[in-house]
Amino acid sequence: MTARFARRLDGMRASEIRELLKITQQPEVISFAGGLPAPELFPIAELKIVAAEVLDREGPRALQYSTTEGEPGLRETIARRMNSQLGTAVRAEEILVTSGSQQGLDLTGKVFLDDDDEVLCESPTYLGAINAFRAYRPRFVEVATDDDGMVPEELERSVAGCRHPKLLYVVPNFQNPSGRTWSLARRQAVLEAAARHGLVVVEDDPYGQLCYEGTTPPALASLARGGPVIYLGTFSKIFCPGMRVGWLAAPREIYEKYALVKQGADLHTSTLAQCQILAYLERFDIDASIARIREVYRRRRDAMLRALETEFPPGVTWTRPRGGLFLWATLPEGVNARDALVRALERDVAFVPGGSFFPNGGHENTMRLNFSIMPEERITEGIRRLGGVLRELCAAPAGTTGPA
Ligand SMILES: Cc1ncc(COP(=O)(O)O)c(C=O)c1O
Repeated sequence: MTARFARRLDGMRASEIRELLKITQQPEVISFAGGLPAPELFPIAELKIVAAEVLDREGPRALQYSTTEGEPGLRETIARRMNSQLGTAVRAEEILVTSGSQQGLDLTGKVFLDDDDEVLCESPTYLGAINAFRAYRPRFVEVATDDDGMVPEELERSVAGCRHPKLLYVVPNFQNPSGRTWSLARRQAVLEAAARHGLVVVEDDPYGQLCYEGTTPPALASLARGGPVIYLGTFSKIFCPGMRVGWLAAPREIYEKYALVKQGADLHTSTLAQCQILAYLERFDIDASIARIREVYRRRRDAMLRALETEFPPGVTWTRPRGGLFLWATLPEGVNARDALVRALERDVAFVPGGSFFPNGGHENTMRLNFSIMPEERITEGIRRLGGVLRELCAAPAGTTGPA
């Protein structure tokens, strides 16, 4: 019997990064491919303590079904942290605990998108969001983005060409994949334009606390005037991703729709994981732990930037992220990053070709480089090998590098 699948699968492909991650599991590979936090920084000793404590204190409650909205204590703590760190004014009743912020993206598609609705996004944007939204069959409209973030005039121009503009999906802090951070002026101007055009803004912020220079600009959720902003947060990059605990903050009217569709998706996020995170937050100093993570990643970023200066050939440019896990390199026009990847893998180096981060294709001369997972000396060695590959490709006469 041939299975007949839903139409929504037509446009869906396996994430290139997930496929690549299978290769990069091999220990000899120097991987700049994934977006993994450094495992040596996971709070294992502390988690052993809280795991026992939660079972002693909560008993079977920690193993029972619980409410869709999430553990009340955790929702309170998240709201308090958001308000003190981001300057928001959210209430615990506006926090929905999700199974990672990835679930927040999927629920967003379910709540807002009908076939052919338009999702406006940065160009490039987060691949996991493209994949999550694609299941709801929208049209992606990429809005030009420069080193200061989304360009408001370009947003205006893009909306003018839309028939059913619904969502504006953005990652304003240390973006995945580009590493860029929006200026305050851009945040204000984009919010203004979004409100004027009735767009719901989805602010995805897994990296805001991983700032290595200066301070993170105010969250869109704290600046919003008029139009709704849905904020997606996560413990994945400041604690550990395996627990699969994130959250979203949304005005109550929108929040209720999210709670409704989450019920159908998974009833609720793991009670045990929520209890353990809450116990950790009560007993240990997560901000001190985040400060340690920042220090390690800052050194790794610096090692990568130093190596790029000496190893990458002229004509290649890259971003200088002030935080987060990634930087973004652009090769000369006509040089294909997928060709570079084939050669890099032969030298046991992996990265993600940038084309995957553009929902409408193109931009094959770009690449995303992660700097959080490898120690400094392996970063230096990996960039040396990658520089060799790029020198070969950039020196090859036009037409010998395959289709661009
Ligand atoms: C921009 C962005 N959003 C969402 C996610 C998903 O994170 P999680 O589901 O682990 O919270 C990631 C993960 O890399 C990301 O980079």
